[in-house]
Amino acid sequence: MKRILSGINPSSTKGLHLGNYFGMIKPAIDFQNEGECFYFIANVHSLNLVFDPNDVKNNTMNIFTEFLAFGIDPQKTVYYVESDIPSITYLQTILNNTVTVAELSRMHGFKDKLTKDADIQSINAGLFSYPVLMAADILAFDADVIPVGEDQSQHVEICREMARTFNNRYGDVLKIPELFIKKQVARVKGIDGERKMSKSLGNDIPIFAEENVIKKQIMSIKTDPARIHPTDPGDPNKNVTFDYLELLEYDKEKLIEMKERYKKGTIGDVEIKQILYEVFLEYFKDMRSKKDELSKNQDYILELRRKGAKRANDVAEKTLQKVKLAVGLS
Ligand code: TYM
Repeated sequence: MKRILSGINPSSTKGLHLGNYFGMIKPAIDFQNEGECFYFIANVHSLNLVFDPNDVKNNTMNIFTEFLAFGIDPQKTVYYVESDIPSITYLQTILNNTVTVAELSRMHGFKDKLTKDADIQSINAGLFSYPVLMAADILAFDADVIPVGEDQSQHVEICREMARTFNNRYGDVLKIPELFIKKQVARVKGIDGERKMSKSLGNDIPIFAEENVIKKQIMSIKTDPARIHPTDPGDPNKNVTFDYLELLEYDKEKLIEMKERYKKGTIGDVEIKQILYEVFLEYFKDMRSKKDELSKNQDYILELRRKGAKRANDVAEKTLQKVKLAVGLS
């Protein structure tokens, strides 16, 4: 049986968005019927950005609850929090020696930060070695398949490289994982209609936010700029609202008809966005109420976290022992 593994970085107070859901969460939830899944909240990763300990704690529990509300089956899936598994960070230290500074400096997280801030003095080493921690997350569990959105593919590639370097040096110890990216949803666009939807860019639609926040984001979607009046003909390809409606499985016939009306200028952008708002709330209705219900039951959540940690530690400790033996540390 294949082992599937993926994680989410709880680096924002805003919670999970449409891009996270279609890019990674939905495929991950579906994988629960196909293999043995290991899903986790990558809270150690968030430390390179989130410095307030209360935020770290709250974001971790919030994202843990949200991912669960999307349909994690904690009986089948090993569901845990990264910081509860100390073998991961131990493994990271060992894996630091399988990758060069030059390779890490080509990683886009570091490069983007360098271009934006243009100051190497202000970039912490946690961000620089982020891909090594991610490799440790993966390799500690002998994972076969890693479902992620496109933005994480470079990280999974370098993880594969690190595992190969390790195995060349010490023998066949680490499993080389496969990247899994669902093409159609690899890069869900943000409400600016251009860049990838991202919590840090503010172009996201958060799934569990208050209705007024969701509405505000939907009403701010950038549409065809050439269309000034609702009666002007528009290009549906320049309006990401239609893409979202398609993702949310809006009736195909109605969508075709709406696009035709858009081309002719017989439907306004506000009307389309209002439809999206309703479709969005309906699509996520059960998950939103599941989160509300789970949030009221902190004891249950904490118990799940403890149980997940136990199951995950059993696996990761074994890998770490193998690795320590291979490199001469035990
Ligand atoms: P994170 O928390 O940024 O995102 C979680 C997942 O959501 C995907 N995603 C998207 N997919 C499509 N379109 C978008 N607009 C979009 N935005 C986000 C991401 O690709 C990701 O799959 N480093 C990882 C977390 C991590 C991890 C791991 C993942 C830590 N260790 C080990 C896999 C294996 C991250 O920051 O994802």
